[in-house]
Amino acid sequence: MASASGDQATRLYHPNPELQKNAHVKSIEDYKKLYDQSINEPEVFWSKIAEQFYFKTPPTEGKFLEYNFNVNDGPVFVKWFQGATTNVCYNVLDRHVENGLGDRIAFYWEGNDPDDSSKVTYGQLLKGVCKFANVLKQHGVKKGDRVAIYMPMIPELVIAMLACARIGAMHSIVFGGFSSDSLSGRMLDAKSSILITADGVYRGTKLVNLKQISDEAVTLCKKQDFTVEKVFVVRHLGSAEASSNGDRSSPVAKRPCYSLTTDFHEGRDVWWHDVMEGASDKCEPVWLDAEDPLFMLYTSGSTGTPKGVVHSQMGYLLYAATTFKYSFDHHKDDIYWCTADIGWITGHTYVCYGPMANGATSVMFEGAPLYPDESRCWQIVDKYNVSILYTAPTLIRTLMKYGEAPVKKYSRKSLRVLATVGEPINPEAWLFYYNVIGDARCSISDTFWQTETGGHTLTPLPGATPMKPGSATFPFFGIAPAVVNEKGEELEGVCEGYLVFKQPWPGVMRTVYGDHERYESTYFRQFPGYYKTGDGCKRDEDGYYWITGRIDDMFNVSGHLLSTAEIESSLIEHSKIAEAAAVAYPHPTKGEACYAFVTLIEGAEFNDKLILELKKQVRSKIGPFAAPEVIHNAPGLPKTRSGKIMRRVLRKIAVNDHDLGDVSTMADSTVVDILFENRPKELRA
Ligand code: PRX
Repeated sequence: MASASGDQATRLYHPNPELQKNAHVKSIEDYKKLYDQSINEPEVFWSKIAEQFYFKTPPTEGKFLEYNFNVNDGPVFVKWFQGATTNVCYNVLDRHVENGLGDRIAFYWEGNDPDDSSKVTYGQLLKGVCKFANVLKQHGVKKGDRVAIYMPMIPELVIAMLACARIGAMHSIVFGGFSSDSLSGRMLDAKSSILITADGVYRGTKLVNLKQISDEAVTLCKKQDFTVEKVFVVRHLGSAEASSNGDRSSPVAKRPCYSLTTDFHEGRDVWWHDVMEGASDKCEPVWLDAEDPLFMLYTSGSTGTPKGVVHSQMGYLLYAATTFKYSFDHHKDDIYWCTADIGWITGHTYVCYGPMANGATSVMFEGAPLYPDESRCWQIVDKYNVSILYTAPTLIRTLMKYGEAPVKKYSRKSLRVLATVGEPINPEAWLFYYNVIGDARCSISDTFWQTETGGHTLTPLPGATPMKPGSATFPFFGIAPAVVNEKGEELEGVCEGYLVFKQPWPGVMRTVYGDHERYESTYFRQFPGYYKTGDGCKRDEDGYYWITGRIDDMFNVSGHLLSTAEIESSLIEHSKIAEAAAVAYPHPTKGEACYAFVTLIEGAEFNDKLILELKKQVRSKIGPFAAPEVIHNAPGLPKTRSGKIMRRVLRKIAVNDHDLGDVSTMADSTVVDILFENRPKELRA
C-alpha cells in the first residue's frame, strides 16, 4: 500500500504536459482569465456557453440573471435566462441526433456479470424516450407531476428520467439501496402517484428485490391515505424472451433467467415491455420555461426529514454540461465512466445530464466493484478503453486493501483523467489513485460539490491546475467562495472557517420541494447574503481550498450524506430505546461511519440481540448503508444544562480521546466516566 510519506503528500503535482497540450484549459493563467470573466461578466461568459443549446424562444434581453441571496431583503430566489423556453431532453438527445450523431454510443452498459453487456446509441435512446414519454402521457402524467423512480443502473432508468423531462414532469429518483420506508416517505412528500421500478437487480451476489420493496412502499403510502395509481415494472431479471421485447435487445438473452416471483396487482402494475410495445417513437417535447423545475432529489437534512432539492431546467443543464466538459477535460473521443449510481446527485449530473449534454460516450455499470473479483474495475477500464474515471474515495480505499496486484493485472493505459467526489480524499488514497491506478500519468480532479449545487463547485481542471493531494483546489467558473467566521465575517488569506458562496451560479438549487422556508433557513439564514455549504474549510498560503468536513449534524458514510437526527429517530422507534445520539466516527474505508449511543428504558437489557435488532431497524427504516457500525450502551448522555446533547463530547468518547475540551456547560459530568467505561469491548483492544 502506498504510504503518504510527508514529501509525497505535500508536494505539488503538475499536470502531465501530454494531457495539457490538448486540454480545453491549458494553464493556470488561462483558468484565471476564464474564471475572472465568469465572475465579473457572468452574462458574457454563460451566454456564450448557452449558444450550443436549443431555445424554443430566446431569453428576454436584460433578464439574464435576477436573484436575492439575502434573507433580510425578502424571499431568496435565483432566476437565470428568464423568458427563454427550452427542453432539457431535447438538448441532450434530439440536438445530437439532428447533428448527425444518432449512431454514437451513449452508453456501454456493463451488467453485474462480466459477460452481460449491451450498448445503446443516442438515436436508440431518443426512440425509447419518446415511446415512454407517450406511455406516461397515456397514463395521465403531465407537466409538473412528480414521478418516483426506483431502479437499478440500466438504460431504462435513463429512458424513464428523460421521458419525464420531455413532458415536463419532475422525476424524483430514489436510490435502489433505500428501504421501503424511505421510498414511501419520499413518495408521500412529493405526492408521487406514479412509480417506475424493475423486478430486481443483483449487486455482486446479493439480490435486491426492488418490486417487493416497491410493493411495501405502496402499502405504506396507502396507510397514509395516499394512493399510488400506477407502477411500471421493467423486467430486468425475468425471462430473456420478455426482456427482449424492450428497447434493449440482444445481451439480455445471456443473463441467467432468475426465477424471481413478482406479485402483480391488476390495474395498478404494468410491465414496461407491454406498454412500450405499441407506443409511438415520436413525441413532441413540452417547451418549458428556463426556470421550470426539472427534477427533485432528496438529500438528508439535519432536522431528520430529507429535503427534496429542486433543480431548474436551463441553469442546471448549462452547469452540468459545463462542469462535465471542463472538470474532466472531456473530448469527443473520450470514453467516460462514472461509478456512481444515478440515484445520487453524482449520477444525475455526471452519468446522465452532463455527459449527454456533451454527446459523450459513457460506461454504465450496474454491478459491484469487487464482483466477481477485486480487479473488476480495471477489467472494465481495459474492456472499453476508459479514458476518464470518476469515483469516490471510499472505493479507492477499499481497493487499496487488496494492494497493487489486482490493479496491475490490467493495463489501464487508456486512462487520462481520474476524478473523485463525495468526501475529502485522504492523501494516502489520493497517492494510490495517482501513482498506482493512474501510473503517475493522469490528472486527478477532486471535485467538491453537493446535491444542492447541481454540479462541481471547487475542482482542479486536468490540464491547468497543479494538484495538492487532498485539496479540491480552486473554484469552478461562476463560483465565488468565501471563508467566514462564526459571525459571518469574511476571512482573508490563510484561514479556516465556514465555506460559503457569494453569488449564484446556474446550477444552484432553487427551492426545497414544498418548503421554501426550509430552503431559506438551511442555506441562507445563518449568513445573510451567502449560500452556506455546511462544510468547514481551510485556505492555505497558495489560495488552495481544503474541505475539512461537515460542521452541522451531518456525516458522510462512503460518500453518502446522512443526518444524525435521521438515524436517531429510527433507533428511538425501537421499544427498548429511551434516547439515542448518533455521531460520526472515523472508518478506514468508509471515511466516516455511524457510532450510536443508546439509552435503554428502565429494565431493558443491553445485549448482542438488541444490538442486532437496532442495526436491523436502521437498515429497514433508512437503508443498509446507514446501519450504525457501533452501538454503545449509554445509561446517560452528556448534556448541557438546557438539555442539548453534547455531540462534541460523544465524538471524543467514540474515539477514546479523554481530552474533552471545555465541559463547563455540562449538566452532569459523571456520565462521561461511565461512557468511557462502557466502550464496546471490540473497540477496547
Ligand atoms: O461534505 C461535503 C461532501 O459531501 C457533501 C455533499 O453530499 P451530497 O449532497 O450527498 O453530494 C455528494 C456528491 C456531490 C458535501 O457537503 N463532499 C462532496 N464532495 C467532496 C466532499 N467533501 C470533500 N471533498 C469533496 N470532493
